[in-house]
Amino acid sequence: MVHTNIYKTRREKLIKALGRGVVILKGAPEQIRTNDTEYPYRQDSDFFYLTGYSDPGAACIINPNDSDHPFTLFVLPQDPKKEVWTGWRLSFDETVKVYGADQALDIASFETESLAAMKSAAKVYSNLNHDRDHQHKMLDLVGQVRKEVQRSGGGPEGLESIGSIVHGMRLVKDEREIELMQKAADISAEAHIKAMKACQPGMTEFQIQAVLESHFVYAGGSGPAYTSIVGAGDNATVLHYVKNRDTIADGDLLLVDAAAEFEMYASDITRTFPANGNFSDAQKAIYGVVLKAQKAVVEASKPGVSFQELHDLDLRLLVEGMLEIGLLTGTADEVIKNETYTDYFMHKTGHWLGLDVHDMGKYMVDGDSIILEPGMVFTVEPGIYVNSKSKAPEKYRGIGIRIEDDILITATGNKNMTAAVPKEIMEIEALMARV
Ligand code: GLY
Ligand code: MN
Ligand code: MN
Repeated sequence: MVHTNIYKTRREKLIKALGRGVVILKGAPEQIRTNDTEYPYRQDSDFFYLTGYSDPGAACIINPNDSDHPFTLFVLPQDPKKEVWTGWRLSFDETVKVYGADQALDIASFETESLAAMKSAAKVYSNLNHDRDHQHKMLDLVGQVRKEVQRSGGGPEGLESIGSIVHGMRLVKDEREIELMQKAADISAEAHIKAMKACQPGMTEFQIQAVLESHFVYAGGSGPAYTSIVGAGDNATVLHYVKNRDTIADGDLLLVDAAAEFEMYASDITRTFPANGNFSDAQKAIYGVVLKAQKAVVEASKPGVSFQELHDLDLRLLVEGMLEIGLLTGTADEVIKNETYTDYFMHKTGHWLGLDVHDMGKYMVDGDSIILEPGMVFTVEPGIYVNSKSKAPEKYRGIGIRIEDDILITATGNKNMTAAVPKEIMEIEALMARV
């Protein structure tokens, strides 16, 4: 069922920010994977946020200047010969009812209708993220209209990304979004627990990937929210390791960064655990540093705190910990000033989470970090990565550790949406204990 009221409320909020602008959006194009087959279809996040429409071949116009049809959806027309290949399509009347549109038209008329809508608009907002053909088309159309109205006046002054309005809206999640994100988080948490229980030295990284991803789908998710990372031993030190083809050795740590998408919403979890169920002393030393920083940042996440403050806290705790265990030398201030920590910690502490795993939304405004508000959701994911070629003490080489949870800011503090997956050393060892 499509919750039309939710999307209508979002469009109304958007319209208030538009002035005499018009919004002209294209759904995501299908992407060829290999001859005659496409990647699984995934709707453009901004398009979905405003329409709830998730099938291919669509576009929409949100036009406050058109009082009869402020919201027009363009869809593929019914065509029995094509539908036997790709599935049934709604009629235009059904589309109007299901999606709460004021009218539904054949996608073939999108360009003509866009031109007409642009004529009475002061500005055109469109999705300008990934679809270059659409971007060029919008530029062409704006140029065409401006030429047509040169003598009579009017017409759009420019083309702007819909993101300038919608990405700010997407930063603060509504109740329905939080519900869906919690479901995605729960499925992912269950999958991580299954993976920890299943893991044995001698298995392959892809077998653990299979445990995780089969649960994502079994539990109702659409699949992974991003390409799963399952890295054993030295592979755990490669930030975007996605090959997942190696065998897991006794004594390896396994870093698993994998999570489900549920009804378009992402979760994002990382856990790192010993393949044989027991951390070595060197592994415990680094794990303890990452865990202390991660817990402190989660604890500090509340309304009024800036995103940058969380990163600063994370960095200081990681650096102090790395000094304590002999991974770095000098003082914390020197290490931070000279950025020598970047040998082992080279990414930010977290990112917004929502329809996109790295969700849209600014981190800085006018040079200042965003201040956290209730409804914001982001990850907290410190890590330390000591690869086998590093100059670190021998005992630490080949150890990569990241711990990542999804944090919702609430009125009084935060809710850790992924707290169900163990992260304390004793909890992990107990879960993995073979009886
Ligand atoms: N899984 C992507 C990330 O952690 O940013
Ligand atoms: Mn992440
Ligand atoms: Mn992640």
